[in-house]
Amino acid sequence: MERPIKSIILAAGKGTRMKSETPKVLHKIFNKELLGYVIDAVNGTNLAQENYVIVGHCAEQVEKYVTDTYKNAKCRLQSPQLGTGHAAFQAYEDLKGFDGEVLILCGDTPLITSETLTKFIDAHRKNNAALTVMSAVFNDPTNYGRIVRDEKGDLKAIVEEKDASDAQKKIKEINTGVYLLDWAKVHEAFLNLDSNNAQNEYYLTDIVKWTISQGLKAQSYILENNEESYGINSKKHLAQAFKILKERVIDKFLDDGVTIVDPDTTYISPETEIEADTIIYPCTYIEGKNKIGKDCKIGPFARLRGDVELGNGVKIGNFVEIKKTKIKDHTNVCHLSYVGDSTLGSNVNIGAGTITANYNHITKEKFKTVIDDNASTGSNSVLVAPVHVGENASIGAGSVISKDVEANALGLTRAPLKILKGWFDRVKK
Ligand code: UD1
Ligand code: CA
Repeated sequence: MERPIKSIILAAGKGTRMKSETPKVLHKIFNKELLGYVIDAVNGTNLAQENYVIVGHCAEQVEKYVTDTYKNAKCRLQSPQLGTGHAAFQAYEDLKGFDGEVLILCGDTPLITSETLTKFIDAHRKNNAALTVMSAVFNDPTNYGRIVRDEKGDLKAIVEEKDASDAQKKIKEINTGVYLLDWAKVHEAFLNLDSNNAQNEYYLTDIVKWTISQGLKAQSYILENNEESYGINSKKHLAQAFKILKERVIDKFLDDGVTIVDPDTTYISPETEIEADTIIYPCTYIEGKNKIGKDCKIGPFARLRGDVELGNGVKIGNFVEIKKTKIKDHTNVCHLSYVGDSTLGSNVNIGAGTITANYNHITKEKFKTVIDDNASTGSNSVLVAPVHVGENASIGAGSVISKDVEANALGLTRAPLKILKGWFDRVKK
């Protein structure tokens, strides 16, 4: 049987360089928190039983996000913040007697993937290591902890930039801040940490030296794709991470047979699924979790805001915004529309400028619109939810529909048209 894994995710630091009131790890990419990416990557290995998130700066806010979003994550407070070793130690009591592996990572590295973590865990197990640290080789290793090896090439220690000798500073293999520990063997390392170093902090990296001093096997696993270790410390980093993630997602869709006319101006969240032969036109922005069928046409200039499910052959055209909506096969929403909190059947035609009025600004409530198969709405209609438009029903152009329209009926609200003959001549006089 596979050994259980529990994770510790360090997220107590302040993130001063973000220059923000929002805690660093709650900044978002495609509407998902940085910390969420890390927890999802860990959970995506299908090995993690439980995750401990170490919080400090804006602890309440971070804890609320974590406990509202994840059933298998708990927060532990680190106050004051005395370094990464001290941070991880905050989960020490929880892990007492745990006979499995502990994965430690940072909450501000959203690009790490489940695939990489799985390979990392496999490498640890295959070599029967007591401790494995994930390293990466950087041309410019400045500011990172350096991986120091002995004459035989075995891992010896991690030395922080501020404590490194000139020779050590030249080492290009760095510590990414991801570790896997055989907890029963290595947990005692945390009782032996001290802060005798340039930063007077309890360094997590010192567990490496302790492990080796006990005659246990410590090794490093070199990351294949350096991008995955990218940590966010500033808004510039956040924008760069967004770009890397976006390109990664587009590449995957192209490989899967989705046509993306202009990858440079197309934005699709990693939690979106799209079937082959769907075409995404330029300047389309898709965020949140969505499921898109085959042979759909989306964009140009379309926005899907999450919880959108499209069948096959659906058309979503220019300047259309869709949110929390299910749309069945061959339905068109081609121009200038907002469709939110709705269910649309198949072969529905939504006229240009149709709006679902789903939100009551005073009570803050949202209401549902349901449109059945083969129905159509005329241009510039407003559907005031909750409202139901039956099968084959039509809505006349310019109507405000505030009551259900039954199947096969026409719903129309329209002030009578007046034609004043000779108007031009009268005005001229
Ligand atoms: C750390 C590593 C370094 C590695 C680098 C990778 C140590 C001593 N050094 O350095 O070898 O190359 O990460 O990015 O571990 N945190 C807490 N509480 C604290 C201090 C930090 O929760 O008291 C959290 C931070 O929020 C952050 C993570 O730990 O998520 C890393 O902290 P940071 O200060 O960025 O570590 P570095 O000095 O960059
Ligand atoms: Ca630091």
